[in-house]
Amino acid sequence: MQALRASILHCLADPGEESNQSAYEYFADGLLVVDEGHIVDAGDATQLLSELPSDTAVIDYAGKLIVPGFIDCHVHFPQLDIIGSYGARLLDWLNRYAFPAEEKFADPDYAHEVAGVFIDELLTNGTTTALVFGTVHPHSADAVFEAADAKGMRLIAGKVLMDSNCPEALRDDAETGYADSKALIERWHGKGRLGYAITPRFALTSSPEQLAAAGRLASEYPDVWIHTHLAENMEEVDEIARLFPDSRSYLDVYEQHGLLRTRAVFAHCLHMDDDDRASMSVHGGAAAFCPTSNLFLGSGLFDLPAFRDAGIRCGLGTDVGGGTSLSLLKTASEAYKVLHLQEHALPATRALYLATLGAAEALYLEDKIGNFASGKEADFVVLDFEGSSLTARRTAAAETIEEKLFALITLADDRNIAATYVNGVNVR
Ligand code: GUN
Ligand code: ZN
Repeated sequence: MQALRASILHCLADPGEESNQSAYEYFADGLLVVDEGHIVDAGDATQLLSELPSDTAVIDYAGKLIVPGFIDCHVHFPQLDIIGSYGARLLDWLNRYAFPAEEKFADPDYAHEVAGVFIDELLTNGTTTALVFGTVHPHSADAVFEAADAKGMRLIAGKVLMDSNCPEALRDDAETGYADSKALIERWHGKGRLGYAITPRFALTSSPEQLAAAGRLASEYPDVWIHTHLAENMEEVDEIARLFPDSRSYLDVYEQHGLLRTRAVFAHCLHMDDDDRASMSVHGGAAAFCPTSNLFLGSGLFDLPAFRDAGIRCGLGTDVGGGTSLSLLKTASEAYKVLHLQEHALPATRALYLATLGAAEALYLEDKIGNFASGKEADFVVLDFEGSSLTARRTAAAETIEEKLFALITLADDRNIAATYVNGVNVR
């Protein structure tokens, strides 16, 4: 058993646009008690210390803030080396940057090298769980699973399915995509903390036969995830309407192919209507809000309140390399601006929720991660208000924890991540 002493903040529910105080718990002088990789308790330090065995090891992080590990609901590990590629919107960006970058993953050694760097970068940024796109190559999924497993991380990933409207070198087909995904599910899903996501890139790069095969696989493995893109860019949406004239909407294409169900996570969701949201809610689909990507690729503005009001599970995604940072703090800061532009609010506590418990809910993992309820897995981050001289100065001037957290979200980088713990182990 070990205990960590610091300020502690975690969410119990969605604080909403009004930052409802009953939705989160804050202990200014807190203690997080961990045993065998799980949370035993989180509470007031003085009180908990009086109840613990006197020989309990206490790590002192005085002045710092412990929050649950960040959860990235949408990221592409093979796009690490094309972050910040200039001057294109989605379809052009895919052809100019993403597809050529992904072709390099035909080399398994290269895939392993990038996967290792990617996992280290996640941990450097305080991210302890992610839902990850590979490339079309099955060994890309092996590479990222192996790298995550070596750190004991909870990670969900999949090989991409794509058989049309893309370079020849990146195509599988309905049959091989199905068989390769099935083999990867058998190899990785449920191994340690790893999970598999059936990963059709988007409806534009999969034939109806491939979408149907993916849907068949999803019905054979109901506890496997589904991970794809949806309604990100207007050109894309128009092209989907042309290719699938019998579908009411883009979401309906996925629904008609058996790809809308619980544990299905859709990145972006920018150009959708109330009927789509009602359908997504009823079927248990979740949305990944990817603000840095949506701004960088000029895609549009995510309407978070419309999705939450419809009862849809939502988490933040970095969407690197369309997104510009692996940091969920930076991502939260851009989310604030995206919502501000639409006359909505994003209090710091709701931003924290979207990066932790909300994201865990979007991944249907809220029984395992996302906050410090006793019995959950001990994934957490130690935030340092004094990571830079500017954050030290700005947070010292803040009066409440909400104000301090908001300043940190606005200004933080990886200097403000003092430590990252996975399964109770300090991994960075
Ligand atoms: N839609 C289909 N593929 C991609 C991708 O790689 N990145 C983003 N942002 N959107 C996509
Ligand atoms: Zn993406």
